[in-house]
Amino acid sequence: MSTTTEPKSVLVAGATGRLGLVVELLLARGHRVRAMTREVRSRHAAHLRELGAETVFGDFDDVASITAAARGVDALFATGTAHRSGPAGEERHGRNLADAAAAARVGHFVYSSGEGAAESSSLPLFQAKFRVEEHIRSLPLPHTILAPVYFMENLFNPWNLPALRAGKLPSPIAVDAPLQQVAIADVAAFATLAIERPDEFASKRVPLASDELNAVEAADAMSRVVGRRLVTEQISAYALAPGLRFLFAWLERVGHDVDIGALRRGHPQIGWHDYEGWLSSQRARLGGLCASREPVVR
Ligand SMILES: NC(=O)c1ccc[n+]([C@@H]2O[C@H](COP(=O)([O-])OP(=O)(O)OC[C@H]3O[C@@H](n4cnc5c(N)ncnc54)[C@H](OP(=O)(O)O)[C@@H]3O)[C@@H](O)[C@H]2O)c1
Repeated sequence: MSTTTEPKSVLVAGATGRLGLVVELLLARGHRVRAMTREVRSRHAAHLRELGAETVFGDFDDVASITAAARGVDALFATGTAHRSGPAGEERHGRNLADAAAAARVGHFVYSSGEGAAESSSLPLFQAKFRVEEHIRSLPLPHTILAPVYFMENLFNPWNLPALRAGKLPSPIAVDAPLQQVAIADVAAFATLAIERPDEFASKRVPLASDELNAVEAADAMSRVVGRRLVTEQISAYALAPGLRFLFAWLERVGHDVDIGALRRGHPQIGWHDYEGWLSSQRARLGGLCASREPVVR
């Protein structure tokens, strides 16, 4: 991304979470970052301070704490907490974050929701995300909603690890079904762009996807990156926790339909990852999991 922007002060809520990379990107581009956490004495918080962020206490269950943390910033970036707190927690926390941003009169609220959010969705999580988005839109609050699809980083979620170590890529959806995925680095880069260009992204909802491929293609890409032949393994979504089961059923039956070409053409500065490029960026982690002395199969 080119540097053509005035430095801003930004509160990052969820700074120790999956989208905490936003902190690093903002600092690297000269912005002042307040990183919010419930544990300002944690090692993670100390690491954020070493990077150059200020750390500040805030709890998504405590609107007053978020409001206090947000006073005086130009922008507040926030994510949901669905994996930790479930759909009800996601909705409660999302509403609290938006209410706090409005109470603190933050100039721009950038919220990472999720693509698929819909009032009548079959998934409670997507209903919760829709209600949070509606709440944000109802407030007198300049905002941008980002809507990422399935994270590429889910590859490293616990249910995949034993199979990866055995040289298999498990797929809870049909192995030839296309799956749109997004690299967290691309979401973080887009959040940074939106924070730097509040007028361009005001009141917009931006679905985010980096690539689309099926499990067979994903296993082929992994084989090339790690130098070991990986094969797909069809697994039953019923072996997974209910939330994941419903999600994968939806991904197979309906799925995301983001216009990836238009995103790439419209926002080339993001440095979009295709799946193989993202795998290459994770080579060390992948190699530790599933490399072997077997010859490369191309
Ligand atoms: N996985 C996917 O494919 C995917 C795709 C699209 C969207 N998403 C969304 O990405 C979001 C990430 O959710 P996550 O659960 O994984 O969260 P996370 O990003 O791991 O963590 C969120 C952060 O919230 C902070 N927090 C503050 N108060 C909290 C509270 N009362 N309870 C829980 N956390 C609190 C925590 O920081 P401290 O502990 O430091 O306070 C934590 O770092 C979800 O909304 C999810 O739906 C995921």
